[in-house]
Amino acid sequence: MFDNFPLWPDRASTAAGNVDALFIFLLIVSGLMTALIFTAVVYFSARYRRRRGVLAEQIEGSTPLELTWSIIPLGVFMVIFMWGAIVYFKSRTPPRDSTEVYVVAKQWMWKLEHAEGQREINELHVPVGRDVKLIMTSQDVIHSFFVPAFRMKQDVLPGRYTIAWFRATKPGTYHLFCAEYCGTQHSGMIGSIVVMEPAQYESWMSGGSTGPLSASGEKIFSELGCVTCHRTDTQGRGPNLQGVFGKPVLLEDGRTVVADENYVRESILDPGAKVVNGFKPVMPTFQGLVSEEQLNALVAYVKSLSAAGQTGGQTANPASVVPASSKAPSKGSSQGSQVQ
Ligand code: CUA
Repeated sequence: MFDNFPLWPDRASTAAGNVDALFIFLLIVSGLMTALIFTAVVYFSARYRRRRGVLAEQIEGSTPLELTWSIIPLGVFMVIFMWGAIVYFKSRTPPRDSTEVYVVAKQWMWKLEHAEGQREINELHVPVGRDVKLIMTSQDVIHSFFVPAFRMKQDVLPGRYTIAWFRATKPGTYHLFCAEYCGTQHSGMIGSIVVMEPAQYESWMSGGSTGPLSASGEKIFSELGCVTCHRTDTQGRGPNLQGVFGKPVLLEDGRTVVADENYVRESILDPGAKVVNGFKPVMPTFQGLVSEEQLNALVAYVKSLSAAGQTGGQTANPASVVPASSKAPSKGSSQGSQVQ
């Protein structure tokens, strides 16, 4: 309806309409409220202006009136809250089977790497109509990945991953901004999202890849010697990583965490933080030894060990993930059983 309304940027993602509808609703509610207040101010100041011989009458209160002005605003605010929560959770939850793109921000550029291996700088090519999940981190300070046409903005922090996603609905080239002041050339930290027709995208994809990101990850995994401890059986000094990603993991201290991108990342950089139940904290840190790009590749590799179609020994039975680690011969798991 507002497609040519000049006050709004393009609407080019599935989220854009929802965000705009809520925003317009807020504008209308605030506008009505403002009009109501100003009308009342003008009316009352005329109606009850000071007049000779007329004295103000003290009113002690009115329960129906007070209930009315409490309940109606409560209803309005609950609508805003629920609506906002729904839009928020939708925009926070990447659909399963999203295409994944790893984003590394640095002063002052965006480095993007597709799970398929294509690398880009300040430009991201995506197909129209496909869910794209962004797994983002920063090499230095806080940045923010902002695509107005997608109504999407997510801070990008050093030391952890933040996640965002979108599904583009309209081919075209859209602005990418950094929306967090990050130093002198912050304003130059811009780029573009190129949304292409699927066929066009396929042909773009077929050029210049160095192989999937997970394959680079596998290479790094063996180069750094990870493979000597994280074996694909239960004899390793570290947990077998087959089928672990996305599943709950029982820790030495009794907690259970989900093995998501941030968990894998932390386990590489700070292995002592969340030791898997049944294992000793013997893994050295790789802080400073792997770049953000290599970390991303390692995460993609660990993820690929759990991807559908992977037929590693343990993957067939996801239920075995938590017990598998406690079955490890190195250590009893008495602590683990208290937790259940
Ligand atoms: Cu990066 Cu502002």
